[in-house]
Amino acid sequence: MKSYQLSMNTRTYFGNRCVEEAVKKEKNVIGSRTLLITTGSVLNDLGFVEELAAWLDAEVFFYNKVTANPDVAEIRGAIKIGKENHVDSVIGFGGGSAIDAAKAAAIGIVSDIDIEEYLLKGLTPPVDTLPIIAVPTTAGTGAELSKGAIISSREKKIKSGIRGEKVAPTVAIVDPTYTFKLPLTVTLETGFDVFAHAAESYCAVKADPFSEMLSEKSIKIVGGALPRLAKNLDDHEAREMMSFASHIMGYNVKNIGNCLPHRLQYPIGVVTETSHGAGLIALYPTWMKYESAVNPTRVKQTLDWLGCEEGKPEERIRKWLDRMNLVRTITDLGNEMSAEKLADMVSGNLKNDKLADIDNIIVTLYKESM
Ligand SMILES: [Fe+2]
Repeated sequence: MKSYQLSMNTRTYFGNRCVEEAVKKEKNVIGSRTLLITTGSVLNDLGFVEELAAWLDAEVFFYNKVTANPDVAEIRGAIKIGKENHVDSVIGFGGGSAIDAAKAAAIGIVSDIDIEEYLLKGLTPPVDTLPIIAVPTTAGTGAELSKGAIISSREKKIKSGIRGEKVAPTVAIVDPTYTFKLPLTVTLETGFDVFAHAAESYCAVKADPFSEMLSEKSIKIVGGALPRLAKNLDDHEAREMMSFASHIMGYNVKNIGNCLPHRLQYPIGVVTETSHGAGLIALYPTWMKYESAVNPTRVKQTLDWLGCEEGKPEERIRKWLDRMNLVRTITDLGNEMSAEKLADMVSGNLKNDKLADIDNIIVTLYKESM
């Protein structure tokens, strides 16, 4: 059996309505002053931000100007508030963007180096990076466990990660009830991201027996629960299962990492300003087609677990997506950039995907996904 190393050092709370008890237990980590980073107004309108702030036994400073693919300018705003108020911790409350922004802010608040420098130069986060408490409200990213802060510089047209052990949250609090009111598109696109983490970590060079077990469980959950949610957004049991699958995929994102679709989505997200899940959906049929040439058994197993009909890999995933009306191309997302230009913007570790050894594969994947 393949040997492996595993890091599971984020303290986790999972369960419906578990947040109040969790933040009380984690009082020492949160400290006496905390920066609460959220995205948009929806959580505010639902009263969730006010409710969370009331549960915190700390002085709370708020920052809500974080958008999808969080930009360094937004993160500088959060860092400024954190520095001015000498906060002890940063809470990311929302989808992946809020959590990624919280991670980046936790670095920037204790550092004199501009956050964009960390992104562009791949600098290691400082050892005294503030404790991060992640409270996800979508079921998708697994960002509450992963050790990457995925942020963008719109000006420099780059989306990538600041990575290091210190970026993994100290505490993850996963309450599936936050996802109960998510609209259809967010539900399905973030849900597809869960599948993508499971499929890519399963096909990855670094896959190990532990991660494979988690991938199998997650793929089977998504195969059952996501089509159910496409029909009925009030299926709370399916919501809970998706939160669980999303969360356990956080371990795989952290310990194994992803394959080419995740590297290739980042430029699409920056150029078209579309969601992470939307870009992944556009890339997947082509990726599975080519991945099956280098990794046939694993791609077939993935699609079997997902519950796809028989056929060629690209047709199997396309038909599964079509059942939920999710088929789309990069062009559908509004991209007008050439495959070559997008390929120039790809960054990060590509070697976790056997496919990366094939000449010109990135341009091919973009071209055939347009
Ligand atoms: Fe992802």
